[in-house]
Amino acid sequence: MHDCPTVETERLTLRPFRDDDIDRYLAVHSAPEVMASLHIPETFDREDAWNQMARHRGQWALRRSGQWAIELKSTGEFIGRAGTHRPERHDWSSLECGCTFDPAHWGHGYATEASRATVDWAWANHDDDQLFSVILPANAASQGVAQRLGFTLLEERTLDFFPSLPHGIWVLPRPE
Ligand SMILES: CC(C)(COP(=O)(O)OP(=O)(O)OC[C@H]1O[C@@H](n2cnc3c(N)ncnc32)[C@H](O)[C@@H]1OP(=O)(O)O)[C@@H](O)C(=O)NCCC(=O)NCCS
Repeated sequence: MHDCPTVETERLTLRPFRDDDIDRYLAVHSAPEVMASLHIPETFDREDAWNQMARHRGQWALRRSGQWAIELKSTGEFIGRAGTHRPERHDWSSLECGCTFDPAHWGHGYATEASRATVDWAWANHDDDQLFSVILPANAASQGVAQRLGFTLLEERTLDFFPSLPHGIWVLPRPE
């Protein structure tokens, strides 16, 4: 079993989820912009929020991968989540990097900063030859983060967890 580590960047703390993150986790994932981007159903509620947080934390224990809770150092506020994702899915290529932030904090480079720390952490702690990111073609903001980190679009593919639309499969090879 593995512990979820804590990582510091210039402006952010990437830390394990805590039980008392639930109100802010629910608020971030109930923001209309986030619901639209992630196709979160109107039924998403406190129970779903807690189950997701528990899954993130559990993935760290089982696979040493998972999402961190992201705190803004200057205020201590929970502003989103970021990290890796390796679910048990037959059509999941390898270790995915992904993030979701409170729309109130978009446009400051926080997603790029957290994702850069995610990529660095993944190279240092996993053996994968490449990282990938699964992004819907309409999600320009997420594509912008991927491009700033050096990911390139490999292909579009329909994945079983989301059969209604193809996803862009973005890849980043391990540096030499
Ligand atoms: C994906 C998501 C996290 C991106 O957030 P974001 O705020 O656009 O991304 P960044 O934090 O990297 O900020 C980039 C913007 O900040 C600006 N910026 C300001 N200071 C910056 C800095 N120090 N470094 C980098 N960019 C900076 C950039 O110019 C860019 O502006 P632009 O959007 O006008 O081009 C956000 O849109 C989101 O949470 N979406 C909903 C969930 C989602 O879709 N998740 C991804 C699923 S695949």
